[in-house]
Amino acid sequence: MSQLEHYPVLHREVLNFFKDIKKGYIVDATIGGGGHSFLILKKLPEVKIIGIDKDEYAIQTADQKLKQFKGRYNLIRSSFKNIDNILDQLGLQTVQGFLFDLGVSIFHLKTERGFSFQKDQPLDMRMDRSQSLTAYDVINKYSKNLLEKIIFEYGEEKFAKRIVKNIIEERKKNPIKTTKQLADIVYRSYPPPLRRGRIHPATKTFQAIRIEVNDELSEIKLGVSKGIERLEKGGIIQVISFHSLEDRIVKNIFREAKKLKKLEILTKKPITPGMEEIKENPPSRSAKLRVGKRV
Ligand SMILES: C[S@@+](CC[C@H](N)C(=O)[O-])C[C@H]1O[C@@H](n2cnc3c(N)ncnc32)[C@H](O)[C@@H]1O
Repeated sequence: MSQLEHYPVLHREVLNFFKDIKKGYIVDATIGGGGHSFLILKKLPEVKIIGIDKDEYAIQTADQKLKQFKGRYNLIRSSFKNIDNILDQLGLQTVQGFLFDLGVSIFHLKTERGFSFQKDQPLDMRMDRSQSLTAYDVINKYSKNLLEKIIFEYGEEKFAKRIVKNIIEERKKNPIKTTKQLADIVYRSYPPPLRRGRIHPATKTFQAIRIEVNDELSEIKLGVSKGIERLEKGGIIQVISFHSLEDRIVKNIFREAKKLKKLEILTKKPITPGMEEIKENPPSRSAKLRVGKRV
C-alpha cells in the first residue's frame, strides 16, 4: 500500500449524491490521493474531473492513481479558494458538481511535516510547502495575545492561557523546534487530573496551529461560497468536514445560499459514517457530509 492510499470517507454516500450527473465536470477541490475521484470516474463514464490540491505530493499521487482515466481529468496545484480563477482559465462558467473533503490527508500525518504529535518532527504543518509561514513561526514569533486567541478559537481549548504562558516562558529560553517539545508543553499546562483523558491534551492546540498555518477557515469560506456560485442549475455540492468549526462554516454558507434561493439543502442533518465504516477506517469517525443542490 502506498503512503498516500486513502480510504475515501463516506464514498458510497458521495457517489450516490452524484449519480444523476451523466456528463460534464465535477470539481474535486481536495483531490488528495485521488480516492473519491477514482470512484467517480469509474462510476460515471462520461464525467470529467477537475482535481485541485494545495499539495504537490497529492497532485503527483492522484495522477498515478487516476492514470487509467487519462484524458478525463485535469490536475491543478492551487488552493480551492481560487476556484473562480481556475474555472475561468479552463473556460468553464459553471460545472455540474463540487466535492470538498476537507482537512489533512492520511499522508500528511505520516510524512515529516509535523502534523502529528505522535512523532517528534520539526514544527512545520504546511500543506502547501511553497508558502513561507510554518508552525515554527506561529509558535515562536506570534504575540502572546494572538497565540491565545488562535488556540482558544481554532482549538476551542479552554486552557489556552496556561498553554501560551508556558510557550512564552519556554521560547524565551530556547526556540521551540519540534512537535514533541510543543506537545510536552501543552501536556504540562493541563491540570494533572485531566492529562490522561481519552484524547491527548495536545490535540486541540495542534488543530489550532494547523488551521492558522494553512489559513483553513477563510479558505473554506471562500472556496465553498465560490463553488455554489459556479454550479449549474441542478448541480450538486458536497462538503465533508472533520470538526465543528469547519462544519459550522459550511452549515452557515448553505443556509445563507438557501435564503437567497440559490441552494436546496439535501441533508437536513449532516450525514455521518456508520459503524461499519468507522470500523474499517477509524479517522472517518468525525466526518460530516452536507450536500446542496443548485436552484
Ligand atoms: C482529506 S484529504 C482528501 C482525500 C481525497 N478525497 C481522497 O479520496 O484521496 C484533503 C486534501 O485537501 C487538501 N487541501 C486542504 N485544504 C486545501 C485548500 N484550501 N485548497 C486545496 N487543497 C486543500 C490537502 O492537501 C489534502 O490533500
